[in-house]
Amino acid sequence: MLSPQVSKALNKQIELEGFSSQYYLAMASWAETQGLNGVSAFLYHHSDEERLHMLKLVRFVNERGGHGVVPALKQPPVTFKSVKAVFEEILKHEMTVTADINGLVDATLKEKDYTTHNFLQWYVSEQIEEEALARQIVDKLKLIGNDKGGLYFFDRDLEAMAKVEAAKETTDKKK
Ligand code: FEO
Repeated sequence: MLSPQVSKALNKQIELEGFSSQYYLAMASWAETQGLNGVSAFLYHHSDEERLHMLKLVRFVNERGGHGVVPALKQPPVTFKSVKAVFEEILKHEMTVTADINGLVDATLKEKDYTTHNFLQWYVSEQIEEEALARQIVDKLKLIGNDKGGLYFFDRDLEAMAKVEAAKETTDKKK
């Protein structure tokens, strides 16, 4: 059974993951209107992943006798300055998420809730990957600078990455 403190903290995390999904969805839609189909495919996929992070938490809270509350929708920004600005925002946002996850892990230790502590380890590893990927993309965009040709290839790279991720998920579902 979840303590009220842990339950509240997990619900806060549900809200944050839900917002991440909305945020990346807004970025994906903006990128699509800019003709950046690869970037938008990557971001649509990223948005779906965040929704799954939220869902995983909702199900866990309910399994442990709490109530996973579906948060209200907050409107994310509509337009973005550039592709580089988008990925810089993602990196910044993911760093905030990491800090929140760490706070959550801390709360489970204080409450001696080792089951939730164990469950959260998946999120700890996921954050390492997400931050590393965002950082890698920001570095690439710094190299590209204002080179339009570079951006074209970058867009194609992200399209390929989105396809690989989607294929991986189809294989996982078949297992
Ligand atoms: Fe679910 Fe990107 O943190």
